[in-house]
Amino acid sequence: MQTVREIVVFIHLLGFATLFGAWLAQAFGGKRQFTTLMNVGLAIAGIAGLALAAPWGITFTPGMSFYMKITVKFVVLIIIGALLGIGMARQKRGAGVPAGMFWAVGALTLLNAILGFFWH
Ligand code: HEM
Repeated sequence: MQTVREIVVFIHLLGFATLFGAWLAQAFGGKRQFTTLMNVGLAIAGIAGLALAAPWGITFTPGMSFYMKITVKFVVLIIIGALLGIGMARQKRGAGVPAGMFWAVGALTLLNAILGFFWH
């Protein structure tokens, strides 16, 4: 069970890498637009994250801190998804993504990774 959880954590990290990598490529040398790959990464990180939110395959008993962390991460994920959705709709209309919205997606993605690593 523990091994399966480790595999799901790995898939979760692949989702993070896909989302953040796609964003970095757009931020540095790209057109600073939102891409389908960002949505794919977010979906992978989100689905794997929800699977990890349940306390299986772990040796410790998750306390308040664990559930607070995944609640905050879930809210951040919803905000990233909303920003990507709004931004992509604007792109379709030819309006482009406002700079603040573009940088917020990168910052919030990084925030969720930091919470995953450092909040114990
Ligand atoms: C943009 C979205 C997200 C990103 C970039 C992200 C990133 C990360 C990273 C980098 C880790 C560290 C993995 C490790 O321990 O080596 C992690 C762990 C984790 N994440 Fe996420 N995550 C995201 C969304 C979510 C969501 C929505 C949930 C749950 C609702 C979630 C639940 C977890 C859990 C349970 C862990 C394991 C931490 C532990 O067991 O203490 N994540 N995440």
